[in-house]
Amino acid sequence: MEESTIWPRSAAVFGASGAIGHALCEGLAARGCPLVHTGSRSGAGLAGAQFRPFAFDLTNENTIAAAAEAMRAEPPEWVILATGVLTLADGTGPERTYKRLDGQAMTDVFALNTIGPALIAKHMLALMPRDRRFVFAALSARVGSISDNRLGGWHSYRASKAALNMLLKNFALEMARTHPQGVVAGLHPGTVDSGLSQPFQSNLPEGQLTAPTVAADKLLGVLARLGPQDSGKVFDFRGDQIPA
Ligand SMILES: NC(=O)c1ccc[n+]([C@@H]2O[C@H](COP(=O)([O-])OP(=O)(O)OC[C@H]3O[C@@H](n4cnc5c(N)ncnc54)[C@H](OP(=O)(O)O)[C@@H]3O)[C@@H](O)[C@H]2O)c1
Repeated sequence: MEESTIWPRSAAVFGASGAIGHALCEGLAARGCPLVHTGSRSGAGLAGAQFRPFAFDLTNENTIAAAAEAMRAEPPEWVILATGVLTLADGTGPERTYKRLDGQAMTDVFALNTIGPALIAKHMLALMPRDRRFVFAALSARVGSISDNRLGGWHSYRASKAALNMLLKNFALEMARTHPQGVVAGLHPGTVDSGLSQPFQSNLPEGQLTAPTVAADKLLGVLARLGPQDSGKVFDFRGDQIPA
């Protein structure tokens, strides 16, 4: 496909206030995408005429439904979910052992990493075109792979991303029946310098931390290359499939 035809004419990024989400918005605009709906809890906008801000909260379906309704007139061709948590707002971090499991913390992590994205799918997949390509992608994580899990730990985060990956597969199967050109995919961005990764950066080997702009550039390139045969799968920033 020609470079000029692979980028969307409109896109929506949920989580535009995050490190990767913000870089994805900028990256889409830099590739000439003339309309990027940028979603965040605050509803604050990005500087630039291409950006159209909206407010939503993953824990409030009404806000997600309202955001989708506002996009109905000009639905995005690409929808990217760049939200997620590893450490909760009250400082509760990922569990290293089963002994630290806490029901409320698990519930909160699943609400943000699994259920919120599923509710965005509920309202946004309904807007996707049947007769041409669309992309619905969610930031997942390599640690959500069950077969690739060699270290254990981070129980709620891993499980919430594994469950997210299952939902993406389910949505891909369902959409394929009516939207044969659609792509539903999970993405692993690498280890990216952000508020989410910040508490865990000290033990990283030299050179393993990626800048958000670099990660976003790679992820956009991956999304541009995916086809319907890839729908339901999870890919890393190199475009390599991550096993379930
Ligand atoms: N960074 C990494 O190394 C890494 C590695 C693997 C996977 N990932 C995944 O990449 C994604 C993005 O992470 P990041 O590193 O860019 O983290 P980040 O900078 O902390 O961004 C997280 C985003 O999630 C949003 N969010 C949190 N709670 C929300 C809520 N209740 N409603 C709406 N939005 C909410 C935040 O919005 P506010 O600004 O309103 O808080 C922010 O936009 C996550 O899914 C993460 O699991 C990251």
